[in-house]
Amino acid sequence: MNTLTKKTLVITAALLTAALANAGDAKENFEKSCAKCHGTDGKGQTKMGQKLGIKDLTDAKVQEGFKDEEAFKAIKEGLKDKEDKTLMKAAEGLSDDEIKALVKYTRDFKK
Ligand code: HEC
Repeated sequence: MNTLTKKTLVITAALLTAALANAGDAKENFEKSCAKCHGTDGKGQTKMGQKLGIKDLTDAKVQEGFKDEEAFKAIKEGLKDKEDKTLMKAAEGLSDDEIKALVKYTRDFKK
């Protein structure tokens, strides 16, 4: 194996590890902060989810219904209904990068 190939392999491995670590964090954060409403599978079939009328995040139509920026804002600042009642609380203690990873994570529910 020549040096260039070795270097490429090392870099690829490092990138893969970083990507996997990121995915792990998003999963962890989702299960910790989001799953009680949205469900671990994103379908929202939880007690809270049913009460709040949460949409099924695995549904492509639901996914088309909001933009990445909207999802980001919803996670960062929370969501309110027309009567100013809180639907979804702002996420606490999450960095912008973690929120971005969560947006991606919610996107991945789509079948
Ligand atoms: C208290 C329950 C609750 C929790 C906890 C919660 N959500 Fe939500 N979420 C809702 C409700 C209610 C809606 C609005 C109805 C819908 O779109 O399903 C919503 C909507 C969303 C949307 C769609 C945004 C849009 O603009 O339509 C995304 C994406 C989302 N939540 C992600 C998350 C993530 C990620 C977390 C964890 C950080 C989280 N939610 C935590 C209740 C919750």
